[in-house]
Amino acid sequence: MKDATKDAKKTEGQKVTAIIMAGGKGTRMASPLPKVLHPVAGRSMIERIVRSCQAAGVNDIRVIVGHGQNLVRQVVEPLGVHCYLQEKQLGTGDAVRSAQPESITGDVMILSGDHPLISAQDLRDFISEFREQKAALAVVTAELKNPGDFGRIIRSGGNLHSIVEARDATSETLKIREVNTGIYIAKADALSEYLPMIKNENSKGEFYLTDIVGLCIENSEKTIVIKGKPRVSVGVNSQTDLARATRVLFRRNIKTHLDAGVLVLDPAATYIEDDVKIGPASVIYPNVYLRGNTKIGNFCVIEPNCFINNCQIGDSVQIRAGSYLESSVIHNKATLGPYARLRPETEIGEEAHVGNFVEMKKVRFGRKSKAGHLTYLGDADIGEETNIGCGTITCNYAVDHQKYKTKIGSRVFVGSDTQFIAPVVIGDDAVIGSGSTITKDVPAKALAVARGRQMVKENWTAKKTEEE
Ligand code: UD1
Ligand code: CA
Repeated sequence: MKDATKDAKKTEGQKVTAIIMAGGKGTRMASPLPKVLHPVAGRSMIERIVRSCQAAGVNDIRVIVGHGQNLVRQVVEPLGVHCYLQEKQLGTGDAVRSAQPESITGDVMILSGDHPLISAQDLRDFISEFREQKAALAVVTAELKNPGDFGRIIRSGGNLHSIVEARDATSETLKIREVNTGIYIAKADALSEYLPMIKNENSKGEFYLTDIVGLCIENSEKTIVIKGKPRVSVGVNSQTDLARATRVLFRRNIKTHLDAGVLVLDPAATYIEDDVKIGPASVIYPNVYLRGNTKIGNFCVIEPNCFINNCQIGDSVQIRAGSYLESSVIHNKATLGPYARLRPETEIGEEAHVGNFVEMKKVRFGRKSKAGHLTYLGDADIGEETNIGCGTITCNYAVDHQKYKTKIGSRVFVGSDTQFIAPVVIGDDAVIGSGSTITKDVPAKALAVARGRQMVKENWTAKKTEEE
């Protein structure tokens, strides 16, 4: 059995509640967005923590909201968590009180909404260690080279004694490199018993959750330290911290793909979000951004500067430089770009080709069909082996502000510079003369030409000069 499943078994049946503090303003972010909603590698910090809790098997998740509460609720409530309002931000001790700990039984894990790098496995490890040691309270600590603004861990005789906030610490205490990561696990009873005893006698006049350590020790409760990796301490308090955390997460995702046989030419300049899947032997060039639920098959090549969001891409597909693809499906061996644009609900058939400066929206583009250059197709259904000439436009949007469909069959030859005034249907094997404005349906196998006839006046310029 893998460690993860073993741990999950161990924690099975025992209730764990998570309280996630997310009420603070995040002044140092210098941004109007509530701090915990800032995205790290495409997903907000608070959503990351909530998902880690869920993946660790935490059944009751309580998020403390305050600043920007409406926005925070909009993000977390759909994930199935409950929000608790902290009316005034009177400190972390007060924040936890807002989550009604007296209504909790079992174990409680307390986390901050601004620690985006914590994984489900980290949480499982902390919970099992807490249970093994049968403690009333555990503080997760980390040893840091630069302990900065973190609360310092004071030990006496090797055991935890108290936590001192950096701003309240003496220069001697500031030298301590073991810090409070802001993650705690407590027995629900101990939490509800000691939380009300916390006072706000400190430099900030706030209720510090960290004071619960001293209260537990005074009352002979078993209070322990769990050492975590420095990574779990990574909190985000500024845009610089956010950029750093984002980098860590992108690098972590890329490592996973490299290990699975994907060639990422420049890991430092490639951006792949968590849910993206890529098959082995695919090549990702620099400056590629892969978002959302994108799935890329085997042996694909994604050239530089492509942005791909929520796309399903088959095997051996080539996406050439500078392409922008959203919510589309691309089948095996198709080639796109350079500079192709697929807007949502487009499907590109096997071995089809979409060339430079071609935009498609809500198009089904059949197998082996081609649209090589400078074309707009919208609300269209195109059969197989059809050739769409350069400069073709489906005029799908009418003066009545409605969208209309263009249907083009298989093996159709559309000459360059053709406009289809939708709704219009073109049968299989039809040929459309170059420069046509097609307003009426064209039956299968027919030739349609809809353009002004060419007029030629022999020797016209010479005569004109004579007249003058
Ligand atoms: C806190 C710890 C510190 C620890 C650090 C780790 C205290 C007193 N200090 O400091 O020891 O090293 O975390 O990152 O706990 N929040 C509320 N309501 C409030 C105050 C804060 O919801 O009234 C939330 C914030 O939104 C944030 C979290 O609690 O998500 C932590 O608050 P923050 O002010 O960032 O604490 P630190 O100063 O970082
Ligand atoms: Ca913080």
